[in-house]
Amino acid sequence: MPYANLLIETAGGIRSITINRPDKLNALNRETVSELRSAFDQAATDPRVRVIVLAGSGTKAFVAGADIAELARLSPVEALEFSRYGQELMLRIERFGKPVIAKIQGFALGGGMELAMSCHLRIASDAAKIGQPEINLGILPGFGGTQRLLRLAGRSAALELCLLGHHIGAQRAYELGALTRVVAADQLDAEVQKLAEQLAASAPQAIRGVLDAVLIGGETHIEAGLDYESQAFAICAATADMKEGTSAFLEKRKPVFRGQ
Ligand code: COA
Repeated sequence: MPYANLLIETAGGIRSITINRPDKLNALNRETVSELRSAFDQAATDPRVRVIVLAGSGTKAFVAGADIAELARLSPVEALEFSRYGQELMLRIERFGKPVIAKIQGFALGGGMELAMSCHLRIASDAAKIGQPEINLGILPGFGGTQRLLRLAGRSAALELCLLGHHIGAQRAYELGALTRVVAADQLDAEVQKLAEQLAASAPQAIRGVLDAVLIGGETHIEAGLDYESQAFAICAATADMKEGTSAFLEKRKPVFRGQ
């Protein structure tokens, strides 16, 4: 499906979704949020897709936030609806069931950081700049930033970034727990590709079990998380991939997981 604001490519089980508004630093206008929702819906049911790489086009920004020109015109009722609309996209990504890697070059600000935080892995260039600068516009994060930053980096960092609204470098964001990995700018594509290939070659049912168990475990008490883990573990035991993985180990060869 052609999109006005997204570029989509698929190769070797890896679906690349690139937000393509470089002249606006890939800011998330409503149309882009809507297109992302349908791109993720489409990828969810496409068996060729084993992993998603989400990026922004150009080198200057992953995403520099929600589109401020649109925000400026919102009534309170529209603001509530837009916030929920964006939050639904972030939840969709977080619960996607296939791994989503945010490839972060340049700015990941406001809605851009919120989008990255809904992804499962955040790989950033050492030149990336991270922040929740909404306070400088007289608003607060509305796509889940207060909640996910709190969960990823703790109360102290969430309050610092959301109250002060300044940008921090990738290395500090990594040290706070807000990024998975920081790499040299010229290594970003290769590093993300390597991780994506590894995930695309893994057993999808096991991957889904990890994604869901960690998510559920983070939102509930340990008994419920452990119960989910056991169920997911049992489902894996019904897959051909589990037989392949264990046989390959015992036969001293590399497994080939077919998603069955
Ligand atoms: N929404 C809409 N447009 C945006 C945008 C956003 N969040 N972020 C950048 N842009 C646009 C700029 O308006 C500019 O458009 P123009 O050329 O038509 O004037 C273009 O992208 C380039 O941005 P510019 O500000 O000129 O680049 P810069 O290098 O001087 O500064 C930033 C880069 C990221 C520091 C700056 O653009 C910025 O602060 N953006 C807003 C970040 C923000 O507050 N995000 C949270 C939104 S809720």
